[in-house]
Amino acid sequence: MTETLENLLHESRRFVPPPQLASAANVTAGAYDEAAADRLAFWDRQARRLDWAQEWTRTLDWSDAPFARWFVGGRLNVAHNCVDRHVAAGLGDRVALFWEGEPGDTRVITYAELGVMVRQAANALTDLGVGSTDRVAIYLPMIPEAVVAMLACARIGATHSVVFGGFSAEALSGRIIDAGAKVVITADGGYRRGRPSGLKSIVDEALTRCPVVEHTLVVRRTGQDVGWTAGRDLWWHDTVATASDLHEAQPFDAEHPLFILYTSGTTAHPKGILHTTGGYLTQAAYTHHAVFDLKPGTDVFWCTADVGWVTGHSYIAYGPLANGATQVMYEGTPDTPHQGRFWELIEKYRVTILYTAPTAIRTFAKWGDDIPAQFDLTSLRLLGSVGEPINPEAWMWYREQIGGDRCPVVDTWWQTETGGIMISPLPGVTRCKPGSAMRPLPGITADVVDDAGASVPAGGGGFLVLREPWPGMLRTIWGDDQRFRDTYWSRFGTGTSAPGSGARAANGGGTALAEHGWVYFAGDGAKRDEDGDLWLLGRVDDVMLVSGHNISTTEVESALVSHPAVAEAAVVGATDPITGQAIVAFTIPLGDVDTAGEAGEKLLAELRRHVADTLGPIAKPRQILLVGELPKTRSGKIMRRLLRDVAEHRSLGDVTTLQDSTVMDLIATKMDEPH
Ligand code: WT7
Repeated sequence: MTETLENLLHESRRFVPPPQLASAANVTAGAYDEAAADRLAFWDRQARRLDWAQEWTRTLDWSDAPFARWFVGGRLNVAHNCVDRHVAAGLGDRVALFWEGEPGDTRVITYAELGVMVRQAANALTDLGVGSTDRVAIYLPMIPEAVVAMLACARIGATHSVVFGGFSAEALSGRIIDAGAKVVITADGGYRRGRPSGLKSIVDEALTRCPVVEHTLVVRRTGQDVGWTAGRDLWWHDTVATASDLHEAQPFDAEHPLFILYTSGTTAHPKGILHTTGGYLTQAAYTHHAVFDLKPGTDVFWCTADVGWVTGHSYIAYGPLANGATQVMYEGTPDTPHQGRFWELIEKYRVTILYTAPTAIRTFAKWGDDIPAQFDLTSLRLLGSVGEPINPEAWMWYREQIGGDRCPVVDTWWQTETGGIMISPLPGVTRCKPGSAMRPLPGITADVVDDAGASVPAGGGGFLVLREPWPGMLRTIWGDDQRFRDTYWSRFGTGTSAPGSGARAANGGGTALAEHGWVYFAGDGAKRDEDGDLWLLGRVDDVMLVSGHNISTTEVESALVSHPAVAEAAVVGATDPITGQAIVAFTIPLGDVDTAGEAGEKLLAELRRHVADTLGPIAKPRQILLVGELPKTRSGKIMRRLLRDVAEHRSLGDVTTLQDSTVMDLIATKMDEPH
């Protein structure tokens, strides 16, 4: 199984599925052929995992492309599919959520209990005048009521828009106004890093700008004092908890709007990504079943994302619950009250499947191997990663230190826009390469193209595109169809019929490719290796042009992280009079590395040489700075735009979407030091 490696960046080890997992896997290799033979028939079969009140008449209507309609004419209720049908099947006593609050308080909620909560919330919202043509904003901490609120909206056909609880009043009001929400569901506050932080106060500030909001529903979580507007504000415990738990779910059209989710976007005006009912739930449920190999009733699944991101929508709320999964839901941060909190929870709840992000994995590696080593992680059988490219180094650390060198690691590529996982290994099938998301899932058609939209051959790099519509795809940008066309559908493709481009997709299904000429541009760079496997390289805006060579920031970052002294790295291209752009790297050394004086100088020289040795002299950074932290968005993505400002000695733009806005001051000071 393992070959020795010369260099971690050129990590050559391959990992086959563990035999027991492979022999009992939910999805086997035949799924690829099945989907390739008839992609629409394949999705048609996946849709039958759900309970439909009315059958669809057509699997896909693409006649008004790029506006898709999936499962045309079908009708279903999402909350019924995620809760009631499991209870009706006799599984009411199964635990849906093992919830753990940051201070250590816990709640165990069965499917039957979840059903009561959802029906009560549905009745309370209906009493407030919310119906199937309305939007509801949800601004909550990671408490069970967040999932209940989403399901209650889905149950009555109201479209929810979850706003991450870390966002400012300004970001919140912008989203409430854009969505036209008439109710906001929030809490007095939540716990973060050991302290109660206010949410209701932020809602109050936001609502001074949102006259359309008629009511707030407020969950009591921390017990802190809150401002109160009589007539507008209502306590959850006075309204929802006292409402009737009898509620008949009505089915809605397969294309009924389920939710709007604003991309965390580093751009000025966030995009309201619209997802609908039947196709979205089909893809969330199928991918959760296929990629995580979920065995309901025995597995304990834990996705560490916040419900404020799409990962929390698809792999906490909708996919796992549609599949009848038992999950862990955790309110707080990974280092409260100590840096072993995640591993403690895995030990406590016997978690079998963990889904987290590279930024977290690199942070855990930085904190040290001895921390996870103190806990019993033997319940784990499968590990997932999402959100950014995962460096081979981090992939190996995850597999060895967390997965005990026995759990497959699935690197899953997708986006808020795609609704569900698109490119990922199948854990019972794929021979994995550390750092590669491998192949499109069955039923998905991805490709890598050059500037002109032609498929690149094996070994080539370019832009990631999706050539065929998929069930969980965004349907539009809320209120802005033109921006939807411009952003995703106008870079490549003809948008007409039969271009006869002869393009070949990586695999995944559909024999007649791109006959319709519509090509979805994901905004990411990618490489297709000699075996046809895909390597995601991050946003194309993050590709540098150095002396006429395209170099991705991800590659240089991976080279830096593969050095034993480096914990994390962020790389940007800064304008340079000679090379066009020059590589500037911001690097966090591991805790025990000596960076003072001469030792620091030596380390910098060595790191530059190390990058040149691994990637070639062209990729040698002009400058490397050793820093303590990197600027990250609240979803954990590095904000290279800000680092570019620093590298080009510009004053900093808006830093309010940063996790920690003081980080940039420290980095800017560092940049101005003599070097
Ligand atoms: C962007 C989408 C998908 C849920 C979380 C993020 C990057 C995501 C991977 C991966 C390389 C990845 C891409 C993508 N990304 N997963 N496995 N490998 N890059 O959702 O905020 O909509 O961001 O995240 O750049 O376009 P999002």
